[in-house]
Amino acid sequence: MNACIRAVVRTAIYNNLEIAGIMRGYDGMISDDIISLNSESVANIIQRGGTILKSSRSEEFKTKEGRKKAFETIEKHGIDGLICIGGNGTYTGAGIFYEEFGIPAIGVPGTIDNDLFGTDFTIGYDTAINTAMEAIDKIRDTADSHNRVFLVEVMGRDTGFIAIAVGIAGGAEVILVPEDQKDEKKLYQIFTKKKGRKKSFSIIVVAEGEHGGAVTIASKLKKKFPDLDIRTTILGHIQRGGSPSARDRILATRLGVSAVERLVEGGKNECVGMINNKIHFTSFKEAVEKRKPLPDYIMGMIDKLSV
Ligand code: F6P
Repeated sequence: MNACIRAVVRTAIYNNLEIAGIMRGYDGMISDDIISLNSESVANIIQRGGTILKSSRSEEFKTKEGRKKAFETIEKHGIDGLICIGGNGTYTGAGIFYEEFGIPAIGVPGTIDNDLFGTDFTIGYDTAINTAMEAIDKIRDTADSHNRVFLVEVMGRDTGFIAIAVGIAGGAEVILVPEDQKDEKKLYQIFTKKKGRKKSFSIIVVAEGEHGGAVTIASKLKKKFPDLDIRTTILGHIQRGGSPSARDRILATRLGVSAVERLVEGGKNECVGMINNKIHFTSFKEAVEKRKPLPDYIMGMIDKLSV
């Protein structure tokens, strides 16, 4: 997100615009927590995880009164347009705010889950999958030495984008995602087939939103196969931090630059995305309503690799 903020600030300045930073997202808009930004304010942040502007999930912005207060702040500071980095909630809020108060906004997809329609990739996804993959590489050493089965839970409340990427890159035998309700059955079939085979260690990647997560799946697996030595690792928020990958920094920069240019050209009520390496714009409505499916070819490939 910092790489994006840097790109937004510098592109705005390049276009002779004044630019301010709203702290903690919509909460800062409500409580008038606005800072002025210049080129130096965003120096030396491209390599830092998180966001210098901080973040929050604002409950108050969901109310009409909250949004009214936010509009008072916007008016007070003479703000003419917004660039909002976030996911579905951020886009929904920006869309309603435009309808109510006419403040144009361009959304930028920022979530490690990569589950936003209108873009192939979201900011943070690449860094998160690389972090999780490195963790799996380390877990493999114990799995192999001790002949254990490891269930590694990755983030993805409603979706398996992180799980499929991490599972493939980390050489997992099974990947469990919320999108595939039959995958739990496949897991048991694979372990039935595996019985008596020489290699007995396994890495199973589980998306957190899948059938109660890794802990639940581990206890079901143990009941069916009591001889297995099973361990569970929940990677959690380590996936949401750390220095961003080069791919994420480049994506964030391209999206940030394009978001400002679009706003300057009169764009509103839409989000920027990257499809087939080209910049695309999608209305907030479409981005929020449509669900981005997991790529089919990946799902088919997983079955082939677990033989
Ligand atoms: O942003 C989505 C997400 O990364 C989910 O995958 C995860 O469930 C959630 O964030 C965790 O959010 P929090 O930090 O609020 O617990």
